[in-house]
Amino acid sequence: MRILVIGSGGREHAIAWKLSQSEKVGKIFCAPGNGGMKDIAELVDIKADDILGLLRFAKKNNIDLTVVGPEKPLVKGIVDIFEENGLKAFGPFKNVAMLEGSKVFSKNAMKRFNLATSDFKVFGEAAEAKKYLNKIGVPIVIKADGLASGKGVIIPKTIIEGEKAIDDIMTKKIFGDSGSRIILEGCLEGEEASILVFTDGKTIVPLKSSQDHKRIFDNDAGANTGGMGAYSPAPVVTELMLNEVIKNVFRPVIDGLREEGGVYKGILYAGLMITKDGPMVLEFNVRFGEPETQAILPRLKTDPLDIMLACVDGTLDNINVKWDDSPCISVVCASKGYPDEYEKGKQIFGLEEAGKIKDVIVFHAGTKNENGKIFTSGGRVLGVTALGDDIKSAKAKAYSAIDCIKFEGMQYRKDIGARAINRTT
Ligand code: GLY
Repeated sequence: MRILVIGSGGREHAIAWKLSQSEKVGKIFCAPGNGGMKDIAELVDIKADDILGLLRFAKKNNIDLTVVGPEKPLVKGIVDIFEENGLKAFGPFKNVAMLEGSKVFSKNAMKRFNLATSDFKVFGEAAEAKKYLNKIGVPIVIKADGLASGKGVIIPKTIIEGEKAIDDIMTKKIFGDSGSRIILEGCLEGEEASILVFTDGKTIVPLKSSQDHKRIFDNDAGANTGGMGAYSPAPVVTELMLNEVIKNVFRPVIDGLREEGGVYKGILYAGLMITKDGPMVLEFNVRFGEPETQAILPRLKTDPLDIMLACVDGTLDNINVKWDDSPCISVVCASKGYPDEYEKGKQIFGLEEAGKIKDVIVFHAGTKNENGKIFTSGGRVLGVTALGDDIKSAKAKAYSAIDCIKFEGMQYRKDIGARAINRTT
């Protein structure tokens, strides 16, 4: 089969790498891809949100399945457009991709389907939002309604900071139209975890749990980032809790949307806060997590193509999804300056040596290949990933691989997995 993977991050490298292990996959294209994929995929110079360009390419190249990595093309309706043109695409249709495309849609769905989540109010005017902020005070969570490249959630420390965030989003429009409406919601306390499921709109199959590390520095200090590393499983999510989350979160939302006419197919990702009263939903994403995917997919034993096609075709109940018990850790190596303005164009050394370590896979993200040499080209550069007999040995292998890798200004967290180790020892 001929596969097109859309996106260019570590997530898409992990998806393409896993698909390349399927005996049924003949050729993989990745649009636009990154510098680490040359052995598994042919790179195609089309942007991930150029839907008509991607459609033309998929038709011309007889693509059998398109796998969509990032949220933007999903929210723009790529799956609908591909299907109208007789092409299969793994991911949700536009009407239900709004679970990520609009925080207002998402919170209203959570409320309609009785999910455990924080109380919230929607505002279309900055003055009204500020009045409410002054009444309720901090801590409070401010969310832009639409997509904002992962930057649309702000937790102000003071009312002044909160008023500035409201002005930035609604008046200065730093996220464009995504800030026409905002949500103010209660701040939840606890430990965050991500649970993702495969679904064909009826059957729900959970992936292994995972935990992201959002902050740039060790011990969760410093600025928020797109994610500095992840591990799977997340010991905070017990088997009992996972079953409860399927029953009380995924089942009501997937059944509820279907009954309203919105069949949800693909990956559904619930960002949860494990509070003292149990798991509560922070947000939904309509795609694989970044960087959680890099720590989850190496553990998948079943052919990913079979699972993805079954999600698209509505036959997921026929698939028995199996996992490797070995835990996995993925540590992000980032450019100097990230998550603010960062350096680019630095040559990366030691990748071959790192990749030779048993059970280590180096997923690329912001890299480019120039005549066989690899250079940095983005904020998050690599996801150095390792499986181990336990989380401690996975961590040791990932960091010994990082010791082999060098580029000027490389920064990474030293404590990915530490929380899981503390919980399991
Ligand atoms: N890890 C957070 C996300 O994928 O949005």
